[in-house]
Amino acid sequence: MSANKKASDKGRAAVDSSISQDGMDLKRRRLLVGGMSVAGGLGAGALGVSMLASMSPSARAKAAGAPVEADISKLSPGQLLTVEWRGKPVWIVKRTPEALASLSSVADQLSDPDSKEEQQPAYAQNESRAIKPEVLVVIGICTHLGCSPTYRPDIAASDLGSDWEGGFFCPCHGSKFDYAGRVYSGVPAPTNLEIPPYMYLDDNRILIGEDQGAAA
Ligand code: FES
Repeated sequence: MSANKKASDKGRAAVDSSISQDGMDLKRRRLLVGGMSVAGGLGAGALGVSMLASMSPSARAKAAGAPVEADISKLSPGQLLTVEWRGKPVWIVKRTPEALASLSSVADQLSDPDSKEEQQPAYAQNESRAIKPEVLVVIGICTHLGCSPTYRPDIAASDLGSDWEGGFFCPCHGSKFDYAGRVYSGVPAPTNLEIPPYMYLDDNRILIGEDQGAAA
């Protein structure tokens, strides 16, 4: 197994430990979160192309869809971890009690609060859109035109309104998503963010891209 393959299997996870509910300059936080998402996607994408080109067709297919493992043991409430899966950024967010409480209070502002559109496996078709309510696993790609939204846990942010309770904002065309990746009404994005198939290997390890048929 090559070093690149090992690195890929470990999910190339990176915790932005500086993301928290408090104590950090907002502008710097936006840059860090946005940069992390974009840099992760581009770098890993280029790596993936060169790796795949040297493989046999069967190995290529397997690598392109291989599940990735994420270690969430060091993820604190309010933090976001980005893992790359199939060339896409997958966000893992440890939601705070306040973030979880916001899910019901913003429901009447959402386009699909009950997640009726097929944007998640069956086990994530609930209010938190997750297996465990405190941990969100979601693909960080806007459902409008594919930008990567930014993580915006800053309550009542001046650019998002006094009723902003935290979530994700796509600055490309102004789409807003709540803490479960559910899209707000009246924005360009047509659907909620997509939840990938995933499963827990144990309390601290999540396998993304594999759920052993649980989604069926
Ligand atoms: S790509 Fe996100 S709002 Fe257009």
